Amino acid sequence: MPKTFSKLLSSTFFFLSTLLLFSIKLASAKPHGFSNSLSPKHFGLKRQKLSHLHFYFHDIVSERNPTAIRVASAALTNKSETGFGTVVMVDDPLTATPDQNSKLVGKAQGIYASAAQDVVGLLMVMNLAFVEGKYNGSALSLLGRNTVFSMVREMPIVGGSDFFQFAR
Ligand SMILES: *[C@@H]1O[C@H](CO)[C@@H](O)[C@H](O)[C@H]1NC(C)=O
Ligand SMILES: *[C@@H]1O[C@H](CO)[C@@H](O)[C@H](O)[C@H]1NC(C)=O
Repeated sequence: MPKTFSKLLSSTFFFLSTLLLFSIKLASAKPHGFSNSLSPKHFGLKRQKLSHLHFYFHDIVSERNPTAIRVASAALTNKSETGFGTVVMVDDPLTATPDQNSKLVGKAQGIYASAAQDVVGLLMVMNLAFVEGKYNGSALSLLGRNTVFSMVREMPIVGGSDFFQFAR
């Protein structure tokens, strides 16, 4: 693999901070047909809640038990400075502090892929599946662009499950 891409893969963690707007679904609908109008009020959607989750994301590619593995690449990937075409499947720990052995709050499960030829830019498609406290069993769905060498990266939350229903 080209040097720049290997370097990015071997970084053991990066910081991820998320501001979330989400509502909690309170009741379920009675189905009558294919499609019905629903009252947002009925589902308790008038209220929106803003939460700040703070945790560390460990992308481990080089130790004995990697949490990120390359599952695909193209014939041209090896010739690309940015590893264009690489697809990596992850089950990366999310922890409370930068220490890899600190409290596990969840896992980032999904795929990242090198999607840019001019800069190292990853397509991130993953679920942040939490195991801590009231968030246990709930997940946030992330779909975004990760320009790895930028100090700050912004990745949209496109939804969520259970506690995080209707998250954005
Ligand atoms: C790309 O490089 C890796 C590591 O050197 C090698 O294992 C792999 O076979 C190469 N892939 C192609 C398509 O040349
Ligand atoms: C999270 O939920 C699972 C399944 O219900 C349970 O086994 C586990 O002990 C819970 N973890 C925490 C930290 O509460």
